[in-house]
Amino acid sequence: MALRTIVQDGDPILKKKCRPVTRFDDRLAELLDDMKETLTHAQGYGLAGPQVGVMRRLFISLDERDLPEGASFEEGAEPKYIECINPEIIATEGEVTGYEGCLSFPGHTAEITRPEKVTVRAFDRNGNPFTLTGEGMLARCICHETNHLDGITIMDLAESFYEDEENDEEE
Ligand code: NI
Repeated sequence: MALRTIVQDGDPILKKKCRPVTRFDDRLAELLDDMKETLTHAQGYGLAGPQVGVMRRLFISLDERDLPEGASFEEGAEPKYIECINPEIIATEGEVTGYEGCLSFPGHTAEITRPEKVTVRAFDRNGNPFTLTGEGMLARCICHETNHLDGITIMDLAESFYEDEENDEEE
């Protein structure tokens, strides 16, 4: 496994539409393992292909569904990830406005309205199809990462940005 460089704000890669994954091979497995290591290292919640320069439709997301209420991986538990290849959101429910960040846009926290519940159909690294329903943070992450695959980022969707008081003082 190896750390990959996370593509940053201003890179045109972040505005491009990704192509579907067609080969479920060792190279794909290696990419996913590298992305997990990169995401863990960056202490992020999700990471999409184009964020590591790979223009293919895939993302990974932290899976906190098994954790007890209020617990987090920051307290030392081994993180678990969901891998979604060629994801397609097939159902949404509700609406919730909240804040989210992105590893490609450090320092920006965007207020975005997302569905409360999202069902995604995707393939695992072996090419097996599955359907998954996420709520709350996971639903937000599924939408955020799927947007990345179409070149859409928090900078396009933000209704407003969180203003950090400390940053204001520095200006
Ligand atoms: Ni992002």
